[in-house]
Amino acid sequence: MRTRNLIDLEDISKNDLQEIIRLAQMIKAHPSIFTDACHGKIMATLFYEPSTRTQMSFQTAMLRLGGQIIGFDNPSNASVAKGESLKDTVRVVSGYADLIVMRNPIEGSALAASLYSKSPIINAGDGGHLHPTQTLTDVVTLSFEKGTLDGLTVGLCGDMKNGRTVHSLIKTLSKYKNNRFVLISTPELQLPQYVLDILEESGCAYSFSDSLEKSIGELDVLYMTRIQQERFKSKEEYEAQKGIYVLDEAKMRLAKGDLVVLHPLPRVDEITVGVDEDPRAKYFQQAEYGMYARMALIITMLNMRTGISPAPLHSTDARRCRNPRCVTNTESYVPHLFYEKGGKTVCKFCDSLLEE
Ligand code: NCD
Repeated sequence: MRTRNLIDLEDISKNDLQEIIRLAQMIKAHPSIFTDACHGKIMATLFYEPSTRTQMSFQTAMLRLGGQIIGFDNPSNASVAKGESLKDTVRVVSGYADLIVMRNPIEGSALAASLYSKSPIINAGDGGHLHPTQTLTDVVTLSFEKGTLDGLTVGLCGDMKNGRTVHSLIKTLSKYKNNRFVLISTPELQLPQYVLDILEESGCAYSFSDSLEKSIGELDVLYMTRIQQERFKSKEEYEAQKGIYVLDEAKMRLAKGDLVVLHPLPRVDEITVGVDEDPRAKYFQQAEYGMYARMALIITMLNMRTGISPAPLHSTDARRCRNPRCVTNTESYVPHLFYEKGGKTVCKFCDSLLEE
C-alpha cells in the first residue's frame, strides 16, 4: 500500500483493496495464525463522537492481533475539554501510539490530523463526510456474500445527504465494472453534488427513486441507512424525514431471492425486527466481517514503513471553504487548500464546492 494514512478509501488502489479483502478472508478462515501479528504495537482510538461498532471492532481487532489499545471515547474526559486543539492532541498521541484511529464530527478532521501526526491516521468517520473503514467492511461483506464487487444493482435507501457510509461506498463501488445504483430517498436527503459528480464521471448507471416498494424488486444489494438525526439543523426538519422508508417483511416479499440487505447499524426504525430472521438480512454478519476487515487493515498499515509526517502545509490562498462544518473553519491553523475538478474548485478537506 502506498499511502501511510487511510483518510478516504480512494487512498488505496484497487489492487491493494483486493489484497486487504483477501487478507480479511484468510484471517476469518485461520484466526489462530494471526494472534501475534501485532505483538508489541499500540493503537490509539480517539473518538470525539459516539460509536459502538466502529470503536469496539477496531479495539477487538487489535486485541485479537496481540496488540494493545489506548484512547478515549468521551472527549469531555480528555484535554480537548480544556480547549486543546486537534493538532496538539494528535502530536502528543502519535508519540505514544503506532497507529491512530479517529472519529470526529468535523468534516476533514482526519486529513487535518494526518498533517500533524507521526503515526498513521485511520479515519473512522469525519462528520457527514466519509467513513472508509465502514466501506471496507461493506466490500468485505459483499465479497463473502456475493462473491463479486462487479455487475451489481445496488439500492441505497434513506439519508443519502448526511450518510457518510453511503458517500464512501458509492465512491468505491463506482470503480468496479457494471455496477448500477438506485438512490432511494426524499428530494431533501439526496446525495451531495460532489458524490453525484463522482457517479457521473465513473460512467456507472444510476437512477433516483422515491419508493422502496417500487425499486426493491430490481436490486441485488439493498443498503439501508439511518436518518442521521444529529446532522439536522432542527428537530422539525428531522421529524419531517424520519420513518418515511421502512423495510418490512411485506417489502422483502417483493425482493429477489438472493438479495443481500446491509445496514451499517445502528438501526432505529428503518428495518423492522421481523426482517432480522430473513436469510437475506446480512447486517449482523456485516458487523462481524467489519472486525476481520479492520484486522486486515491494521496489519497492512503497521507493516508499512512509517516516518515523520510531511511538514504541515501552509497556504497563502485567500479563499476560504464556505462549509461551516469543515475543519478549516473550526481549527484556525489548518491551511485552506483546494483542488480543481471538472472546472469547479473543491475544498481538499471536506470536498464541498467553493461556489456552493
Ligand atoms: C454509521 C456511522 O457512524 O456513520 N455507523 C457505523 O459506523 N457503524 C452509520 C450511522 O451512524 O447511522
